[in-house]
Amino acid sequence: MKATNYKLFSVEKLLALSFISFILSSCTYQEFEPAGAKLTPQLTAYYTEQPPSSIKDPRWRSLNYYTITVSDQVTGQKPADDGILNTYGTFNGLSSFNKGLGTEVLLRALYDDTNVYIFASWNDESFSPANHNWYYNGPADSKKGDNGTGWTRQRSDDKLQFNFDMGAGKKDVWQWSLGLSEPVGYALDMMLNGSLLPDAGTMPYFENELDDTNRSGPKYEWDGTSQTLNRELGGYTILDPGFYVLNSTDYLGDVVNGDAEYQLHCAKCHGVNGDGAGYDYESGVSFRLPGSFSRISRSGMDSHIDRPDHDGQGYWNAMTAEQKEDVKTRLYSWSGIPGNVLQVPAGSSADIKAISNVVLGKIDIIKKNTNGYQVMFVRKLNTGNADDAVFSPKDGLIDFDIYLYDNDDLNSVGSTGHSLFFKPKSN
Ligand code: HEC
Repeated sequence: MKATNYKLFSVEKLLALSFISFILSSCTYQEFEPAGAKLTPQLTAYYTEQPPSSIKDPRWRSLNYYTITVSDQVTGQKPADDGILNTYGTFNGLSSFNKGLGTEVLLRALYDDTNVYIFASWNDESFSPANHNWYYNGPADSKKGDNGTGWTRQRSDDKLQFNFDMGAGKKDVWQWSLGLSEPVGYALDMMLNGSLLPDAGTMPYFENELDDTNRSGPKYEWDGTSQTLNRELGGYTILDPGFYVLNSTDYLGDVVNGDAEYQLHCAKCHGVNGDGAGYDYESGVSFRLPGSFSRISRSGMDSHIDRPDHDGQGYWNAMTAEQKEDVKTRLYSWSGIPGNVLQVPAGSSADIKAISNVVLGKIDIIKKNTNGYQVMFVRKLNTGNADDAVFSPKDGLIDFDIYLYDNDDLNSVGSTGHSLFFKPKSN
């Protein structure tokens, strides 16, 4: 009787919850296109004396807005480099972007006497925060024919890119990247002039590799300390070590030994491939969900394994300290070891500040990104750097193209030939 009541209650509760979430999800886009706001024929920047300081500024919901319908831009590309696998989620363009569910980009803009502020929002229901994570004996890549044996770098991240016209065939490229720039509060600043080159100064990240090959394995790992950061825009945040390394130390442990020990003592319950399907017993605990075990520090990992109620405790405690570290390395190399180390940028690479609605402390890639991405960019109208476009409100217009990437480095959807119009200040 008691059980039945409980069941009834939870079914009702579930129904109510799903009804509420239905209402919420069906309102999501309307929230950004409220009745009072008008669609403008080009992206219009309005003058303000109160600069927006956050992604939650109410004007990012109430200002007149501009929308862009995206279409295929670059498709069918896969990286030539050996060892870079499964990094082209947008390979088929629109039909693969956001799982073929489509998107449009909604833009709003403000400016003051110093800066331009641009807000962008678009739909992409799945979070891809990992750019070129390291895997050991990871998945193969059917399109490239690369096998996953040994170290490979896998997965790409989600990005939004503006190309602003600088004249003389040059474009000022602003690329917000969930893997490489967002965590530290910036957009990548580059220039397209025949080829795409980063601006002068220090970029927000550097490659985490032992040598210059994508088979060499990581050089660094997370040092286990809390990755707190006070960003110039958006303030205090914490970075999920499952996907991001900011506090780094030299990479520790021998993955080859770790795999050997694992196969001897853990595979019977956790699976030869770490997928939870052991040959003696299915523990159901997989180490392969991206970020899942790489966010547990080396010192914290022991308490997850050395528990009386863990059937593997005895096997663990029979290992030497060194073997334990090697096995931890093996677990990390299934969840993915971040492929880049983040750093605070400097010089002309630090001109574009950016923040988003992504909660960086713990990114659950199974959860749907139901509200889509929202990103705010802030840049000086004139940085004084030769590799940047100058925004001159009195001249009225600057032309731009826009590109969206979903788990991809090379392929994109987007649209070209748009204008940002600076509406003169009234009075
Ligand atoms: C006899 C079966 C068995 C063996 C051997 C075994 N495990 Fe487990 N393991 C389990 C089961 C069952 C669970 C899930 C229940 C639990 O967490 O206790 C688990 C859970 C875990 C977890 C997840 C804990 C968490 O907090 O999420 C880790 C990590 C783990 N095992 C590591 C290992 C390692 C490393 C080895 C090899 C030294 C090993 N296990 C050997 C059965 C086993």
